[in-house]
Amino acid sequence: MPKHIAIIMDGNGRWAKKRFLPRVAGHKRGLESVREVVGACKELGVEYLTLFAFSTENWRRPQDEVSFLMDLFIRALEHEVDKLHNNNIRLRVLGMRERFSAELLERIERAESKTANNNGLTLSIAADYGGRWDILNAVNHLIAQGVTQIDESALAEHLSMSWAPEPDLFIRTAGEQRISNFLLWQLAYSELYFTDCLWPDFDRTALEQAIDSYWQRERRFGRTSEQLPDHLRRDIP
Ligand code: IPE
Ligand code: IPE
Ligand code: MG
Repeated sequence: MPKHIAIIMDGNGRWAKKRFLPRVAGHKRGLESVREVVGACKELGVEYLTLFAFSTENWRRPQDEVSFLMDLFIRALEHEVDKLHNNNIRLRVLGMRERFSAELLERIERAESKTANNNGLTLSIAADYGGRWDILNAVNHLIAQGVTQIDESALAEHLSMSWAPEPDLFIRTAGEQRISNFLLWQLAYSELYFTDCLWPDFDRTALEQAIDSYWQRERRFGRTSEQLPDHLRRDIP
C-alpha cells in the first residue's frame, strides 16, 4: 500500500457545468468525494493523505467563488472535525494562512490541536498552498537562522510536510496533466497517475484503480531493474 497519497482534486467546475449548475455546486459535491476518499484511505491503511484544496493562484478566481470556497472550508471544519477525531484521524493544514479570515484561522487551529495526538491516518489539506512558496519559505527560515549553505536534508526539514514521507502516489483528476504548483520538491520520485474522472465523481473504486496502477509501477530511484530486490521488480512474475 502506498504510505502517502497526494491528490489534486480537479474538475469541480466542469462537473457542475455539465449539469448546468453553478461552479460552486461542484465544490459542494466535491466535499462528498473528500469524505469518501478519506474513509477509504483509512480503511486501506494509507498513512498520509494530502489533498490540494486551494492554491496560491486560486485567489485569482472570481471573488464570489473564492468566498464560497472559504465558507465551505469553515463549514467543513465545523461539521467534520468531530468525526475525524472519533476516527483517530489527525488533521493538518498546509500553506500560508496570512490571507485567511480570523474565523477560518481559529477553526483550523482548533481542529489541528484537537486531533494532534491521533495516530491513525494523517489528513493534510493544502490551502493557500504553493510548492514554490513552500520551498522559498524553507529557504527563508534557513537564512533567518544564519545558514549560509543549504543541503537537501536541511531544506527538507523546513518544508511544510517535513514530518511525512514524500508522496508515493500522486493523483490528479479531470484529465489535466500538470502539477499546478502543488508539492514541487516532495513529488520528485512520486508515481504520477492521471485520470479523466472529475473530482465529484471520484469514489472508492476510482481510488482503488489508482492504487492498482501504482502496484504495476517499478520504482527504481535511478537504479536499474536488476539492482532491485525481487519483490520490487515488475519483470519477475
Ligand atoms: C478543483 O476544481 C477545485 C479547486 C481548484 C478549488 P476546479 O474548480 O478547478 O474545477 P474545473 O477545473 O474548473 O473543472
Ligand atoms: C489546482 O487546480 C489547484 C487545486 C486543485 C486546489 P486548478 O484547477 O486551480 O489548476 P489549473 O489552474 O488548471 O492549473
Ligand atoms: Mg481546475
